Amino acid sequence: MRALSPQLWIKRDDLCADPMGGNKVRALEFLLGGIAHDERIVTVGSAGSTHALAVATYGKRLGAHVVVARWTQEMNTAATHVAERLVREAEAAPLFRSPAGAYAWALRERLQGARWIPAGGGSPLGVLGHVNAGLELVAQIDAGVLSQPACVVVPLGTGGTAAGLALAFAIAQRDIRVVGARVVPRIVARQGRVLGLARRTARLIERMASAKLPRVRAHMLDVAHETYGGAYGRETEVATHAAGQLRASSGISLDGTYSAKAFALALSLAAREPTLFWLTFDSRLLSGS
Ligand SMILES: Cc1ncc(COP(=O)(O)O)c(C=O)c1O
Repeated sequence: MRALSPQLWIKRDDLCADPMGGNKVRALEFLLGGIAHDERIVTVGSAGSTHALAVATYGKRLGAHVVVARWTQEMNTAATHVAERLVREAEAAPLFRSPAGAYAWALRERLQGARWIPAGGGSPLGVLGHVNAGLELVAQIDAGVLSQPACVVVPLGTGGTAAGLALAFAIAQRDIRVVGARVVPRIVARQGRVLGLARRTARLIERMASAKLPRVRAHMLDVAHETYGGAYGRETEVATHAAGQLRASSGISLDGTYSAKAFALALSLAAREPTLFWLTFDSRLLSGS
């Protein structure tokens, strides 16, 4: 990172698990908890949803039958690779023209007894995985692996990742701002929605731990709207350029839907404050194998 900016750090969350890492796997630690062999699981997502691929990959490893209802999206190289892999990993992955069709199909599965995993894994239970990820970073700071950044930049989709990290920093009482680089329409990714998810997750932990937690305050969570490309999955010039710089300096590849946009933002923020780029996309998915 130093070759690009002296105040820029990267958290390689793409390497948090094998064979597929990244943020979506963090949530599955809880969402797939207690899954029975031969259980049926249903989730929904866009055609090249990393979340859906993570559910299919790890659900199958646990002996479950995973079905995914998808809707069409604007495609790019990474989304195409993920979609191809998803079709191979899931037992069924029908593609609908709109989310409404996909949700209706998924509802029928749920009524027949399939375990439901929400889009993006963005429920309080799933967010627990991102809280743990944030606490892992705090432990790394305390161990002297890196100095405390002023902000952590993460792509913002359903908001579970940003909510969990912000809650972790509140719990650990660290003055680290979470900056979400919006990659989906504004109606899905709003600050109020992410704060609400963090609040519901805090309540879940409080019920389990019988303890009172600090809340995530609005100043601890920024949403950057300028990163959005005008459609989910649409690449932006600034993000593609920044991703090229990272690839040239470190060999790390980013995807055009999420991580390249967050990285471009992190690079610009690092010019004025210590910034940590949270890498959520596992580029091993780009190998096509
Ligand atoms: C690679 C990647 N990064 C970031 C995100 C956004 O995470 P969240 O939905 O928790 O906001 C996603 C969501 O699909 C993702 O696949």
